[in-house]
Amino acid sequence: MDPKFALQELEKSGKDGLTAHDLIDLKVTGGLTYNDFLILPGYINFPADHVSLETKVTRNIALKAPFLSSPMDTVTETNMAITMALLGGIGILHNNCTADEQAAMVRTVKKFENGFITDPVVLGAQHKIKDVLEIKRKLGFAGIPITDNGKLGGKLIGIVTNRDIGFCEDTNVELSTVMTKEVVTAKLGVTLAEANQILRSSKKGKLPIVDAQGNLVSLVSRSDLLKNRDYPWASKHPQTKQLLVGAAIGTRPADRERLAKLVDAGLDLVVIDSSQGNSSFQIDMIKHIKATYGNKIDVLAGNVVTRDQAANLIAAGADGLRIGMGSGSICITQEVMAVGRPQGTGVYQVSQFARKFGIPTVADGGISNVGHIAKALSLGASCVMMGSLLAGTNEAPGEYFFLDGKRLKKYRGMGSLDAMERNDSDNSGSQARYFSESDKVKVAQGVTGAVVDKGSIKQFVPYLITGLQHSLQDMGVPHLSELWNMVDSGQVRFERRSAAAQIEGGVHDLFSFEKRLYN
Ligand code: IMP
Repeated sequence: MDPKFALQELEKSGKDGLTAHDLIDLKVTGGLTYNDFLILPGYINFPADHVSLETKVTRNIALKAPFLSSPMDTVTETNMAITMALLGGIGILHNNCTADEQAAMVRTVKKFENGFITDPVVLGAQHKIKDVLEIKRKLGFAGIPITDNGKLGGKLIGIVTNRDIGFCEDTNVELSTVMTKEVVTAKLGVTLAEANQILRSSKKGKLPIVDAQGNLVSLVSRSDLLKNRDYPWASKHPQTKQLLVGAAIGTRPADRERLAKLVDAGLDLVVIDSSQGNSSFQIDMIKHIKATYGNKIDVLAGNVVTRDQAANLIAAGADGLRIGMGSGSICITQEVMAVGRPQGTGVYQVSQFARKFGIPTVADGGISNVGHIAKALSLGASCVMMGSLLAGTNEAPGEYFFLDGKRLKKYRGMGSLDAMERNDSDNSGSQARYFSESDKVKVAQGVTGAVVDKGSIKQFVPYLITGLQHSLQDMGVPHLSELWNMVDSGQVRFERRSAAAQIEGGVHDLFSFEKRLYN
């Protein structure tokens, strides 16, 4: 045949591979998960770094990178949430703690970086150096304005910085004796650009903003300027410019009070954390949130793996759905409960259904490499949620320890006995996720383990981003937002992978090798 008829011939004989719909054909294949299939290569006519990963996590919350960190007490506290948001994703603070502790975490994230810090930490002249040191230990900064009543809104009388307390050995000394009294300030109404200029020319770290009477109204921080420069993808609230943050709650009556505190602290996204989300408790909670807060916060409901479950939560008012039951690395739900679904099938079925209503989905659990992220997104998820992949990073809670010469961090399921026992006193958090608060015998649905040190997510998440951009480029998909249309129209093609093909697709036939993933 004449080579110039190659394209016509292709048209006649049909495209290679399967559509996503044919891939996830339940009657033929049963449930599938990420390793069971591959995506066939497409046509490249754009560079990888032009691939936009912009997406939505819920109806009203957009992200530049499709990543969430799991609400687990070995994954997401303030440090993880701040850094995830700086890098373009969002962190979901766990609820295996009291409501006040969780609200304090929300507050810390919201305060971390913004143009004007509208709720700065303030002390009075009678406070001691040790109070500043305690704030520094908890929140990581020491530039604190001093007012006559020790509160925001009081008359500004000084400022205490690292320089003022650095050489003082007696931590009981009152701040009145060490604070700097000549403070460079700016008047209320100053623009951020002007405030930044004043900071630059005065070479100060903090610029208190005062009203006409000299009362403190807010603060601008030089380190925020530097951070702003470094994180162009940061997930920020469009008006306040504060970092976005999510937090998990349960479905008990006490969780309504918890949520009120979280919203008061500035929460953007609430995640109703349940291993099986299709319950009257969750539906009531969604309705309560929508009736009480309207569009002030978005609700990520779940978890679900079937369209039937999804339909109930969508009808109740969910703004996004979290998909996964039994796919987590620490999870024994499928083994113990006999209930769950292979993650690939769950993501496809729920996402296809949810898209009809404009509801984004989050593929939660079982993500262990960049390829899994690309596959979850190609099956229809708008974002992925990661636990084990992030648990070994510097930003995850907990200390590193050594075992057999390896540097490790603890990682545990929220349904492990270990996690469920953490809060027997107030019955909050992880027990409720598994409906086991009132059980005499606690049935574990997760394990406790350890993961290898991964360094900082400041290097790891950019690796995930670049890896994902290259993956989409290989598929011939110029932007994440076009991926779903290209999958639906049958342009992006898939293929099942036999057990032998899976072995072939991994490293094989080597005596030894070193697997370094990025530099
Ligand atoms: P990973 O990313 O594979 O480690 O999975 C993390 C996800 O597992 C979380 O986001 C939760 O949805 C889920 N998960 C957390 N703790 C447990 C547990 O104890 N049992 C079952 N699933 C869990």
